[in-house]
Amino acid sequence: MTDSHKTSRATLLEQAHTNMPMGVADSYRYWGEDNTVFVKSMEGCTLTDADDKQYVDFRLAYGPIILGYRDNRVDQEVIKAITNTGTLCGFSTALDSEVVELVKELCPNIEKMRFANSGTEAVLGAVRVARGFTSRNKIVVVEGGFHGLYDEMMWKPDVDNWDASSGTAPEIKPFGAGIPESSREHLETIALNDADALADVFARVGDDIAAIVIEPIMGNCGSIASTPAYMQLLRDTCDKNGSLLIIDEVKTGFRVARGGVQALYGVHADLTTYAKAMGNGYPVAAFGGRADVMDMINFGDGGVTHGGTYTANMIALSAAKATLTLLKDTDALATVSRVGAEIQQLLSRVFTHHGVEHRFAGPDSMFGVHFGSDVPQNYRDWKKTNSDLYTVFAHNLIKHGVMLEPDSREPWFICEAHQTMDMAWLEATAMLSMKEALAAS
Ligand SMILES: Cc1ncc(COP(=O)(O)O)c(C=O)c1O
Repeated sequence: MTDSHKTSRATLLEQAHTNMPMGVADSYRYWGEDNTVFVKSMEGCTLTDADDKQYVDFRLAYGPIILGYRDNRVDQEVIKAITNTGTLCGFSTALDSEVVELVKELCPNIEKMRFANSGTEAVLGAVRVARGFTSRNKIVVVEGGFHGLYDEMMWKPDVDNWDASSGTAPEIKPFGAGIPESSREHLETIALNDADALADVFARVGDDIAAIVIEPIMGNCGSIASTPAYMQLLRDTCDKNGSLLIIDEVKTGFRVARGGVQALYGVHADLTTYAKAMGNGYPVAAFGGRADVMDMINFGDGGVTHGGTYTANMIALSAAKATLTLLKDTDALATVSRVGAEIQQLLSRVFTHHGVEHRFAGPDSMFGVHFGSDVPQNYRDWKKTNSDLYTVFAHNLIKHGVMLEPDSREPWFICEAHQTMDMAWLEATAMLSMKEALAAS
């Protein structure tokens, strides 16, 4: 087999099919036999695929890259840490508190914190602590929110197959097989920004509600956002009912503002989860919040257990320390927001030129693009947008060298390195991609 064969996407996928189900290491990386992407290298805001085609990337690994791929300032700190100290010892190090103190400086909602290795694990930890603290079972989640791949959180409204004019709620279905019906026993689902649905669930089962878990800006649903009034209503409802408010900032944390979504809304959670932008691509996550709640983690009677072999390893924590220090001390996030705003302006010119009605949702650092006349207020509204046109447009962008998820439920992620991008090229590429999409429809 020649080298050129080895590096072709099709050959790699064929080989991968013999090694992994669907030929991928994560099911969401499978985009079909013709479109599944194999990457050779990453740098700044660009990807180079197995066939040496370059892309400007707005997917950014589903959000973690906040500075840029292979950011030397972060990478050098990690190399120093693992060279001078090591990767993992199963004991405490001084770095543990250094990183927590950095987070506390940026996020006044955090008094105490614990680390995890993924967003899923951070959510699991926060939910367990909430249940331990309240001695209650039920968790309320919002339609369109995503909180990781563990059984209880793998129930979603089947909006794809839902008739929006039916007047009924979408059916709640598991993500797939292997998820026992019992995992849903303590889960309640409500639509975002619907005060009546909130009141109804608390009236029905309020005395057993441990927590509401919410992404106030839904990073897995086109950045559709809570209204400020709804966030305050959630805070007040939890306080009145003795339930906890868990804000899942796995996507928004250290991205939409230094203090995350809570800095934007001025509403503080009892517990918060972080991951992604916290480490600019290194696998680090955390959950934390009120000291009295977090102190439920103890070995006493009624205490909550938390731990994990790889928790607070030196690779993750040195990356978090370097990334958070940069986000704190430089104007990286201001750059991210400025570039994100410029990109929305240029996309808006493209859509207007082609007569495509459009609305943006969410903040400049992770904005959703929706084809329709209104900004969706919840997942059910998303169904009214022309997501099919978006998907065709997105596939054309990919063909022309702009990488993004071909599904309008995934926002456009911006990193600091996008400031080096050629905006005129992006506008021309978007113009061509929309022209082709409309010609095909
Ligand atoms: C809001 C939110 N919570 C939790 C998760 C799960 O994180 P992970 O994929 O690191 O387990 C994600 C992943 O995209 C997420 O966006």
